Amino acid sequence: MPNNVTAIVPGSFDPVTVGHIDIIARGAREFGRLIVGVVDMPVRKQPLFTIDEREAFLREALAKYDNVVVERFNELVVEFARKWGATLILKGLRAISDFEYEFAMANLNRKLAPDIETVFMMASPEHSFLSSSGVKEIATFGGSIDDLVPDRVAQRFAELFPRKA
Ligand code: PNS
Repeated sequence: MPNNVTAIVPGSFDPVTVGHIDIIARGAREFGRLIVGVVDMPVRKQPLFTIDEREAFLREALAKYDNVVVERFNELVVEFARKWGATLILKGLRAISDFEYEFAMANLNRKLAPDIETVFMMASPEHSFLSSSGVKEIATFGGSIDDLVPDRVAQRFAELFPRKA
């Protein structure tokens, strides 16, 4: 490693957190090329940030990784993977609560594309509680999220939800 494996890291990244960055950075050490796929229109929830913002946050936070590419997509995850010649889907796994959803997604994706493998990386313990939805909830109520997201994301939250004095 680095090897010639291309993996995708799909997600809505609304917004990217330091937990996502940790998984991507660790993945970039293991695989030759990582394509971070930002879902344009997530089916499960209406995003807070536009696709342009979500993509820009990721691009800035990941600029120092030569083998990481950030691209939006609006198709099936497995189609996005095929487009990039990826043979792996890399995802982070935090707690048991993630397992049921990720288990279902991995098996649906396997059914659609048996040649593409889903691989999970355990979240670092310090990020095991961290989620985009948790960050949004804290920020909405004026709490500090500065250690939980890249600087640019924290700045944008401060504009959207000014802190209480
Ligand atoms: O938890 P996230 O970040 O909202 O996950 C988004 C995504 C695309 C990774 C997840 O919904 C998934 O794995 N979907 C597989 C099914 C698929 O291809 N859907 C089309 C894109 S929403």
